[in-house]
Amino acid sequence: MNIEREIEKIKEDVLKALEQIKDRQSLMDLKAKFVGKKGVISEWLKRIKDFGEEERPKLGKLLNEVKNYITELIEKHETLIKEREKENKLQNVSFDVTLPGRRPIRASFHPVTIVMDEIVEIFRELGFFVAEGPEIEDDFHNFEALNIPPDHPARDMQDTFYIGGGVLLRTHTSPVQIRVMESFKPPIRIIAPGKVYRRDFDITHSPMFHQVEGLYVDRNVKFSELKGTLVHFAKSIFGKNTKVRFRPSFFPFTEPSAEMDIVCVICKGVGCRVCKNSGWLEILGCGMVDPNVFEFVGYRDVTGFAFGLGVERIAMLKYGIDDIRLFYQNDLRFLKQFS
Ligand code: DAH
Repeated sequence: MNIEREIEKIKEDVLKALEQIKDRQSLMDLKAKFVGKKGVISEWLKRIKDFGEEERPKLGKLLNEVKNYITELIEKHETLIKEREKENKLQNVSFDVTLPGRRPIRASFHPVTIVMDEIVEIFRELGFFVAEGPEIEDDFHNFEALNIPPDHPARDMQDTFYIGGGVLLRTHTSPVQIRVMESFKPPIRIIAPGKVYRRDFDITHSPMFHQVEGLYVDRNVKFSELKGTLVHFAKSIFGKNTKVRFRPSFFPFTEPSAEMDIVCVICKGVGCRVCKNSGWLEILGCGMVDPNVFEFVGYRDVTGFAFGLGVERIAMLKYGIDDIRLFYQNDLRFLKQFS
């Protein structure tokens, strides 16, 4: 066999060997065997010096060509093996389709929103409609039409945020009563949830808080209906065994006026710090609409009852929260307890 033919044959040997090779390690061994430092090609290159001067360049060139050819072949084969390994890996990974997916983080409602919605729902079931009014009010709707004369202590600079020019931030939701009666004829059955503002800030007072106002006007509305409605409300929100009492009180826009108490949720009536040892907790103000108020809105031959309650106060009693400021600090540890 001539020498060139012998060298060409190395290629065939490699091709044949490659057919058997399935993994990278054997491929690397093959690479070392043929084109490595001590491989077949190197051995051949060492032998070049034994040939005549004429043949040497020819042989050198040929050996280099064969070496490049083999190296390229092996590299191609390596890529193939790598791809096959990747495919195998993917095929061996099994997914448990019965595992639950990752749950999205769910937000929760603010406790004031939860309680507000609950209150609104209780009255809606009784046939009350939701009404709204502006938070920036005028003196007439916030005070005058509610029979609160200019010298009444409720108008004190201490309590009211005055904007100027007879405009102020409403101190209660009662002005919605006036706005509704100005726009609609009786009978009226509304509740008005919303924000109110007062210059007050401590553990039970916040400069902004929420109230729900109620107004029921028709012919011959009686105090017993006010009682029945509000007892139903108290039992719905605090539980059906909740005990309540009505205490005479005073509001300029109702006559007679009352406040409704529930038995202290902490001590159950025995007397404690929260109920100031009385065993009772005030939860709302109410009364029969004062005839002067009807006069302001031009209503005749009707009677009605009204009530107003603080949402934060109800939420504090319901959940046992002792500091109103917790509602407004946006501390997730606090808010998450209501999800
Ligand atoms: N507006 C009163 C307040 O903010 C609450 C109130 C008391 C509303 C008696 C009423 C009511 O409608 O009849 O303190």
